[in-house]
Amino acid sequence: MNSHWPLFDLRLRHRDLLLRPVREADLPHLCAVLPPDVGHDPRLALFPHQSLLENERRLLCMSYWKSLGTWDPASWELHLAVVLDDAIVGVQTLEGDNFPALRTVDSASWLVPAVRGRGVGVRMRTAALGFAFGSLGATAAISSATLGNHASLGVSRRIGYLDNGRSRIVDTGGDVAELQHLRLTADRWPGAEVTVEGFDACRPWFGLA
Ligand SMILES: CC(C)(COP(=O)(O)OP(=O)(O)OC[C@H]1O[C@@H](n2cnc3c(N)ncnc32)[C@H](O)[C@@H]1OP(=O)(O)O)[C@@H](O)C(=O)NCCC(=O)NCCS
Repeated sequence: MNSHWPLFDLRLRHRDLLLRPVREADLPHLCAVLPPDVGHDPRLALFPHQSLLENERRLLCMSYWKSLGTWDPASWELHLAVVLDDAIVGVQTLEGDNFPALRTVDSASWLVPAVRGRGVGVRMRTAALGFAFGSLGATAAISSATLGNHASLGVSRRIGYLDNGRSRIVDTGGDVAELQHLRLTADRWPGAEVTVEGFDACRPWFGLA
């Protein structure tokens, strides 16, 4: 039991997947298997003396520490390790910005290439959404991906998100890229068998009574 940080005891299960919070001890493994196409917020600074993958690994560690060090019931970012057959195969992140007021979650994710293309992406997002719409009482989920990211867009569309406009960003390489935004409202959520353990002690972490 982590009474000082109950989030560490949170467990989400959906079909063959277990999602549990990333821990510091996972960082070496996550850095070792991090795929080069993981993508990151293009506003974050890259170190010129590091390769792109070295930068991505550094940003993964910084994002882990930042999420813990800046946790706020109003705005939070939960990094969940995705466990398949006892191995960590990726990360599913769930974010709430001004969550108690907006009740909207955003998400981000990556998987090792070896397990892609067989529905794991859909199942891990489904696990996170089951938690968001069920335990957290979210009323909407949003997602964004570049127009060429067919796998990410495929996950969203498969689950039932609807297109919600486009915007343009300057990507990591300095090029202009077009983002597709998607949104799924709770009334369109088909529901899923997601088992949540360890949530009660976490309620104050999300601003819930
Ligand atoms: C995005 C990602 C997590 C998706 O996981 P995945 O396990 O490969 O996706 P799934 O197998 O669940 O596929 C979901 C849907 O997308 C489709 N899809 C998957 N990969 C595709 C591809 N390369 N091209 C076209 N469609 C694709 C699938 O057919 C499926 O749709 P369907 O159920 O209607 O057939 C994974 O591809 C990944 O890690 N990508 C790199 C990191 C990344 O881009 N993250 C998102 C940043 S916004």
